[in-house]
Amino acid sequence: MMAERITDYLLSLEPDESPLLEEIRGKAEEREIPIIRRETGALLRTLIAAIQPRAILEVGTAVGYSAILMAEAAPEGCSVTTIEKYGPRIAEAREYLARAGLEGRAELLEGDASEILKSLAGPYDFIFMDAAKGQYMGWLPELMRLLACGGMLVSDNVLQDGTILESRFAVERRDRTIHARMREYLWTIKHTEELQTAIVPVGDGVAVSVRKYAGGRATGGSRDRRRDAEVRRDAETRRDAEVRRDAETRRDAEVRRI
Ligand SMILES: C[S@@+](CC[C@H](N)C(=O)[O-])C[C@H]1O[C@@H](n2cnc3c(N)ncnc32)[C@H](O)[C@@H]1O
Repeated sequence: MMAERITDYLLSLEPDESPLLEEIRGKAEEREIPIIRRETGALLRTLIAAIQPRAILEVGTAVGYSAILMAEAAPEGCSVTTIEKYGPRIAEAREYLARAGLEGRAELLEGDASEILKSLAGPYDFIFMDAAKGQYMGWLPELMRLLACGGMLVSDNVLQDGTILESRFAVERRDRTIHARMREYLWTIKHTEELQTAIVPVGDGVAVSVRKYAGGRATGGSRDRRRDAEVRRDAETRRDAEVRRDAETRRDAEVRRI
């Protein structure tokens, strides 16, 4: 009860959203399409303002609400790649992404993230996980491969409406697998040497993980900073090469179509 009142108060402080986001939220709520809560949106905006990503990856687009919110919060020129497997939502998300003027910046990849993640090259400096909660653990090795040093991995719904703290026997039988997998995921991201993770009880629980630079520090002395700058430069070079490769592949495809 107290927590609800605090949430209501915090929500009353939130500035208005853009008219498009407000429209998408309204329609999604009417049809019970699950999208991030407003307080989770505020956290995403703040983290993105701090990280200033150049490439965002989202797993779980639904109708595009959080993809558009992240693109609004990101610096100009930041790309947003988002993955969704459910056809009817994909069509709607494409419309909203176009209305947000994001055709050039956002790419919606259709299909199962289990396959699509393997095909991506990365690196991404901000990854938002908001799809099938039972799969986070299985996807973690791919996410680690794709996450840049100093980049952030944000995982939503990790407290599972509070059931995460119950013993497996207190959880409905049908939810036991997902409960066990989410517990394993949280334990793992808290104990992985390369990650620094805080689990924040905002919305339905958000895990915020930063990929540490080599040597276990996110920042350091001038030698560390030089090495960090090198790591970033390498990542940028790889990303530029990837963008060039994609452009060439698209050009080739267009030439073939013509
Ligand atoms: C909670 S919704 C995403 C909400 C969205 N991030 C937002 O806040 O606007 C989760 C979405 O993930 C999609 N999804 C679930 N498992 C997936 C998978 N294995 N691959 C791709 N998409 C998946 C679902 O179809 C659903 O639309």
